[in-house]
Amino acid sequence: MSWLRTEVLRRADIVEVVSEYLPLRKRGSNYWALSPFKPERTPSFAVSPSKQIFKCFSSGKGGDVIRFVMEIEGLSYAEALRKLAQKYNIEVSDFSEHAQATKERQRYTALYQEAAQFFQRKLKDSPASLYLEKRGLRPDTIERFGLGYAPAEGNALTRYLLQLGYSEETLVSWGLSLRNEHTGRLYDRFRHRVMFPIHDEYGSIVAFAGRSLGEEEPKYLNSPETPFYQKSEILYGLHQARGCLRQGIGALIVEGYMDVISLHQAGFTQAVATCGTALTPAHVTKLKRYTREVILMYDSDTAGRMATERAITTALSVGFFVRVVSLPAKDPDELLQTAGSEAFQELLKTKQSWTTYLSSQSPMLPDAPERYHLLQKLGQNLQVIPDPLLRRVYADEIQQSLHIPLEFWESFQQMEQAAALPKPQQRQRITAEKELIRIAFTYPSVSHGGIPLWQLLQEEWRHLVFAEEPAEAIRCAFCEWELPFPPTPPQLAERLSPEAQDWLAEVLMEKYVLSPHWRSWDDSPLEEDPALTLESNLNLLHLNHLQRLLEENLLILTSLSPDTPTYKEHLSLHQVLLRQRAELARRQGVILPYRNPSLGPEEEK
Ligand code: UTP
Ligand code: MN
Repeated sequence: MSWLRTEVLRRADIVEVVSEYLPLRKRGSNYWALSPFKPERTPSFAVSPSKQIFKCFSSGKGGDVIRFVMEIEGLSYAEALRKLAQKYNIEVSDFSEHAQATKERQRYTALYQEAAQFFQRKLKDSPASLYLEKRGLRPDTIERFGLGYAPAEGNALTRYLLQLGYSEETLVSWGLSLRNEHTGRLYDRFRHRVMFPIHDEYGSIVAFAGRSLGEEEPKYLNSPETPFYQKSEILYGLHQARGCLRQGIGALIVEGYMDVISLHQAGFTQAVATCGTALTPAHVTKLKRYTREVILMYDSDTAGRMATERAITTALSVGFFVRVVSLPAKDPDELLQTAGSEAFQELLKTKQSWTTYLSSQSPMLPDAPERYHLLQKLGQNLQVIPDPLLRRVYADEIQQSLHIPLEFWESFQQMEQAAALPKPQQRQRITAEKELIRIAFTYPSVSHGGIPLWQLLQEEWRHLVFAEEPAEAIRCAFCEWELPFPPTPPQLAERLSPEAQDWLAEVLMEKYVLSPHWRSWDDSPLEEDPALTLESNLNLLHLNHLQRLLEENLLILTSLSPDTPTYKEHLSLHQVLLRQRAELARRQGVILPYRNPSLGPEEEK
């Protein structure tokens, strides 16, 4: 964990921070308020002072104080951390570790800045300058996007950067130079190309794309990924589009670098593109800090249509309103060059909701397979929408445009849910895992047989795999904890995805029913013997595990004929497992089904 994070968590009190935004009322051991994330009448937003976490039961969001500031202010992790550090007078530059990482990044972006300026200086009177002019770019546009030219000779940039004092190692590992295998000498990665610097959203240059001036392949040569440049996270043009997006305009997502530049030049400064990759959840999550709507405008070829379908699902899964514009030209750049910005403005008005777009792609023929595939596609997209209200809105839209009765969606959803529903045995296992996680964070220091519960669990958990994804992530993070004291939820949060943080907060936050008649409004925790809860749930998990082993082994056993050599082994394993299971069940006080398992798989209880 970074120094800064530790320090912020040590000094910041979540109740104090939250109450600057919301009026909190104490109920039992927690504080409650109306959800700031969703309109509601009864408070479902809870803050636990002892665990230093919050949970919003109506929106599902939960986590530590940093997460809260991120969510409520719409900030990135780093921004929220900085804001809290400021509030608690923590001097960011004091922390050597933090400063080290920042320094490394600064060195990286300084190098890329040097290179970009080098390319920009080389643009004047170069073939690239002529090329950009031919493609209709104005000098101010070229300046705004920092375009340049990488000279044709083999190592102009490398020589220049070495002169500035950068080491060969740095130039190679950070992607600007390549090493000739035979001579060992460095040469430039980008030669005789129009250079497009790629900025992060704050305006630092983190990579380049270089376009060939003629027909040479590849058309665009891209920087390799580095610790400071991940294609799956960077959107080209986001830095320049931020101001526009903040005004509540939907983001226009296009395919190419040139499309973004032409659009911005024509005044459509809400345009962004991925850097030659598919749209990822990380991309759209980044966008969500600025806008709730995306308009997809991919190329009009087959690849573009396929990319559109995937992007629809990705954007929906992050909770966006999604619309699509079908292009009458190859790409937005070509349309602007040939038809002008007014025609483009008109085209934008034809944006369709994703539901109508998908339907128009495969018209509803009376043909059963066509109909089936379309409904399936629509249904699957509905399923990924996290917000039930938005899901409902889109279901209504489909119902109206395609005349599909609402009952269809309801039964479809039920079918999907039934398929996803865990079996009873699985449910029992999941509950036991949850209980153990709750115990681990609620009573970490209670001693059991002389050992603190958290250490006992850490040991036990090393041999288990949890069924649910968030639980498994928490188990791993917990087992990896190396300090001699138990981790608090905020301390582990850094290693957890937002989903796992939401999940953990929900497990840890007892959901009190807000009834005035309920007596237990005092601070005393529920009557519980943590050691007993721990033991019985661990036993349950072991039982469950044994049960799975038994079933697997039985499956093998029934497929073998008794005269094969391995039959005996599996038979004796079966008996060993049965004995272990009986022993555990006796300790647990569980009554096993009276059926002899060797006669066939047991029924689930
Ligand atoms: P396109 O081939 O559609 O090119 O690739 P474009 O954007 O229309 O470019 P111009 O107008 O010919 O200059 C779309 C995007 O795919 C990525 C780039 O991000 C490009 O903008 N791409 C394409 C590459 O990364 N490498 C390539 O070789 C080609
Ligand atoms: Mn193009």
